[in-house]
Amino acid sequence: MTMTEVIRSRRSVRTFSGEPLREQDKQKIMAFAETAENPYHLPIVWRLLDKKETGLSSPVIVGEDAFLAGTMRREPHAEEAFGYSFERIVLFAESLGIGTTWIAGTMDRSAFEKAVSLAEGDVMPCVSPLGYPAQKMSLRESVMRRGVRADSRLGFSELFFSGSFDQPLTPDEAGQWQPALQAVRLAPSAVNKQPWRAVVCGDRVHFYEKQSKARGSGEWDIQRVDLGIALCHFALAAGECRLPVSFRLEDPGLPAPANTVYIATYAAE
Ligand SMILES: Cc1cc2nc3c(=O)[nH]c(=O)nc-3n(C[C@H](O)[C@H](O)[C@H](O)COP(=O)(O)O)c2cc1C
Repeated sequence: MTMTEVIRSRRSVRTFSGEPLREQDKQKIMAFAETAENPYHLPIVWRLLDKKETGLSSPVIVGEDAFLAGTMRREPHAEEAFGYSFERIVLFAESLGIGTTWIAGTMDRSAFEKAVSLAEGDVMPCVSPLGYPAQKMSLRESVMRRGVRADSRLGFSELFFSGSFDQPLTPDEAGQWQPALQAVRLAPSAVNKQPWRAVVCGDRVHFYEKQSKARGSGEWDIQRVDLGIALCHFALAAGECRLPVSFRLEDPGLPAPANTVYIATYAAE
């Protein structure tokens, strides 16, 4: 399977078969996690938490075998870095036939933080159940998916722009960037808010976060995790199209709509 195919086929899995993860699958996931870099070069420590041993659970998940959790220093860009690296693991798991769901809210956070012995100054942004998907979704899962319209995404021209935020970009006009932007559009996001926006300026694509009220208070912004996921999809799909890109933090200073803030840029190499 190509990365683009994996991105297309992935969906959140909340109903698992109950079958234990095969030992080799656990090993593959943890070995891959060690290599799951992010463009901010921030280190993340990965933990596989056995459900039976730890007693951990999530009220929206059934039949899972384990949880994957990551911890890191709480520092600038931690959210985007976590989003990028965790999504790489999510896509790798998908390629092995292992289901995942990003979970930031529907868990007993203090129980998970205790299970990973979260240190002072560290953060555990999200976890994911791991297991083999069940044949049929639970009723709760179907209801949840409908509630956040999980199968739909905003239109290409609502998310992406040409030169400035005044000029919506059509897929045809996106040229070389089209496949990578399509991959961004399919990304998972908290409550399916899809806060990513991008402005294409020639050989550069500038990413922005459209901040919504529910993004979290104070220093921590869950929507920046979504932006990290978007950057990951973009870089993977661009790489697959033989369009190597380099990552930069160089705000072009474009006028942006209210509550829309610059995050990062990818430039064609
Ligand atoms: C950062 C983040 C946090 C999320 N938190 C939760 C959560 O707490 N509980 C949950 O059931 N789903 C959670 N989700 C999953 C989203 O609801 C899901 O990705 C979105 O509805 C799109 O559906 P899809 O993943 O099937 O494409 C989260 C997703 C992201 C990216």
